Parts: sequence; structure tokens; C-alpha cells
Amino acid sequence: MSRIKLAVLVSGGGTNLQAIIDAIEQKEIPAEIAVVMSNKSDAYALKRAKQHNVPVVYINNKSYSSREDFERAMIAEIDKRQADLICLAGFMRVLTTLFVSHYPNRILNIHPALLPAAKGLYGEHVHEAILNSGAKFSGCTVHFVTTDVDGGPIVIQKIVPVEDNDTPQMLAERILLQEHIAYPEAIKLFAENKLEIVGNRVKIKRG
Ligand code: GRF
Repeated sequence: MSRIKLAVLVSGGGTNLQAIIDAIEQKEIPAEIAVVMSNKSDAYALKRAKQHNVPVVYINNKSYSSREDFERAMIAEIDKRQADLICLAGFMRVLTTLFVSHYPNRILNIHPALLPAAKGLYGEHVHEAILNSGAKFSGCTVHFVTTDVDGGPIVIQKIVPVEDNDTPQMLAERILLQEHIAYPEAIKLFAENKLEIVGNRVKIKRG
């Protein structure tokens, strides 16, 4: 099977990036990372990429007067490397129609809750909202990105029980472990051409 090319967009620690790198190195996913791109020069994710000889690009969003100009700069870098799939892995910028419509059904994101729970929230706010809701289960969701923030077709979800004494941090840590399983799984399904989008649902072709 031919290998697809990924562009992974990050802003922070990059544990999901690490899980993707590890899965590729262990030949679990027929993919290679063409570029890791960050809007933060000090993102630890960039160090992780360099340690594995993955090309990195830093694009400072503050150097551009509009979101669209920033996105055009990212698109140029991504298209130069002919990436097939864009993976948002803790990328802290909301993408406009310009970027999203340039890659229809080719952008994945991971959200640290069971969407539509905590839709539109990020970081600790997600887990605070879940704990405040009294939900007994949370988890993570890998979904296609559309212009509806956190509203695109869902590829995979993993469930994590909420414990009675959970703090947002404790819940976040347990969910992160599941994210590291879910994201490589979703990329593998995409790479193997097993995802079929029907309306806002994703059908997974078996076999
Ligand atoms: C994860 O919790 C992910 O769900 C969210 O941002 C966080 C990124 O973590 N979108 P990391 O940088 O991959 O460690």
C-alpha cells in the first residue's frame, strides 16, 4: 500500500504528534509526516519532530494582518510538500473557510471530549464543562474539520469513565492516553481509504 503524506499542525506539547510518529515508525500506519507546522516557536512539539528528523516549519500568526494571510502562508508550505491529510494536533488557531475549503474532507482534528459535548471549548474548559455537567463518561473524538467548529463528521470516539473525585487535570490525563490510541487509528483508516462520508456521518468500510 502506498504511503500518504501528512502535515501535522501543532501549538503545544505534541503528545498526539508523538503518538503519530511512534505509530508510523512502528509501521502501524502507511504514512509519512511531510511537515510539522507550528504557530508557536517554542512549542515542544517542534522538538519532538526534530528528534525524529521530521521537517518543521514555524509560521508566526502574529506576523500576518489577517487570519486568511496566515492561512495562505500555511497552505503554501503544505502544498509545496503535497500533503494528503492535515492533522490538527493541539493547534490553537481556529481555521477560516479559506483554509478549510482548500482541503475538503482532508483535515482531521482531535477533541478531548465526546462531541458534541464541550463543542467549541478547548483545554481545561472542556473538562470543567464535563465535570460540571455531571456526565459519567467523557472521552475523545477524532473528526473531520468543517467550518462548524468541532462540528464535522466524527471518525472515532473513545470512552473514558468520569471518576467521582476527578479534577479537570486528572480527567484530561486519562483522556489523553485514549487520544494517543484514537488519532493513529483514525489516520490509519483514512490512509487505507476506509472512510466514507455520508452527510455528517462517517461510515467505516470493513475488511
Ligand atoms: C489534546 O488534549 C487535544 O485533544 C487538544 O489539544 C491537546 C493537545 O495535546 N486538541 P498535545 O499537544 O498533543 O499533547
